[in-house]
Amino acid sequence: MTAETPTRPRNTQPAAWRHTDILDLDDFDVDEIETVLTLADRMREVLDRRIARVPALRGYTVVNLFYEPSTRTRASFELAGKVLGADVITITTATSSVVKGESLIDTVRTMRAMRADAIVMRHSMAGAAYLAAEHTDASIINAGDGSHAHPTQALLDLYTIRKRVGDLRGKRVVMVGDIAHSRVARSDMWGLTALGAEVVVCGPPTLLPRGLRPGDRPSHAESALPPVIIETEIDRAIEGADVVMALRLQSERQQGGLLPSLHEYSQFYQVTAERLKRAKPHHLLMHPGPKNEGVEIAATVASGSASIIEEQVTNGVAVRMALLYLLSGRTDLPGEETR
Ligand code: CP
Repeated sequence: MTAETPTRPRNTQPAAWRHTDILDLDDFDVDEIETVLTLADRMREVLDRRIARVPALRGYTVVNLFYEPSTRTRASFELAGKVLGADVITITTATSSVVKGESLIDTVRTMRAMRADAIVMRHSMAGAAYLAAEHTDASIINAGDGSHAHPTQALLDLYTIRKRVGDLRGKRVVMVGDIAHSRVARSDMWGLTALGAEVVVCGPPTLLPRGLRPGDRPSHAESALPPVIIETEIDRAIEGADVVMALRLQSERQQGGLLPSLHEYSQFYQVTAERLKRAKPHHLLMHPGPKNEGVEIAATVASGSASIIEEQVTNGVAVRMALLYLLSGRTDLPGEETR
């Protein structure tokens, strides 16, 4: 950083919060997760007002820097910033100087030189957000880095489940699909296990992360994941589930040969109404989106009575409001005046 670049304020509030960046959930403790979820409740109340605007982040600048496509994450960060009165700029790299060869580090430093306080970043390379955080004192929020992590999606998933079922301890949460390439699954594993849920991951062996495949030795480097139950048979996985989350096949991250055919995959791993009969009677059905109906999830299930997929989307705005506010270091969230 140059001498003219202001340094961001130290985060001193609240007590259970020490982050200047959001890179993954593996370095969040339970109190910090609770801090986000509790604040998200207040933000949800702001979001539900007739006029959803408060000046809590006036003068704060958020840059959305997306090297990969996004609908939900990008739009919800944009909305989250605007509801709180921040200035929000969205850069789609396909129409930016990235196409002229500008590096990630230069792009991030350029944004900071324009006084960006927070940079929300999505990139196809695992670790990209960490690299960015090393080269700027703007807050970096990882909006998805390759197959590695998607911490804000995991926090909105935790918030959504908690709002419906209360205490997560002992609740059986089953993630079905392409676990190996899913950054959502990895971040959800950290968050859900931290809150005491029983986490089951289910998919064909070729779509389980190395270290979690049947027969893998626990010493494998990638087994540095939280303790989860591995299942390759979907009916066994769903048995007694409180929550079933279907995950998209990440074909853009797969090399060939992982699946015999899409048809066969759907036959064995699609979340269907018939399969959900094995879950608890009042189970919840989730999907982080975007979904491929007819592949990992049946259309009737996606829009069925157990589905809380759209709630996930709405809650995503509230959770991202909470995160931006916490990163800003501000402590003066307005109350009633804009109702
Ligand atoms: N869940 C999620 O990250 O969706 P988008 O790719 O649309 O942002």
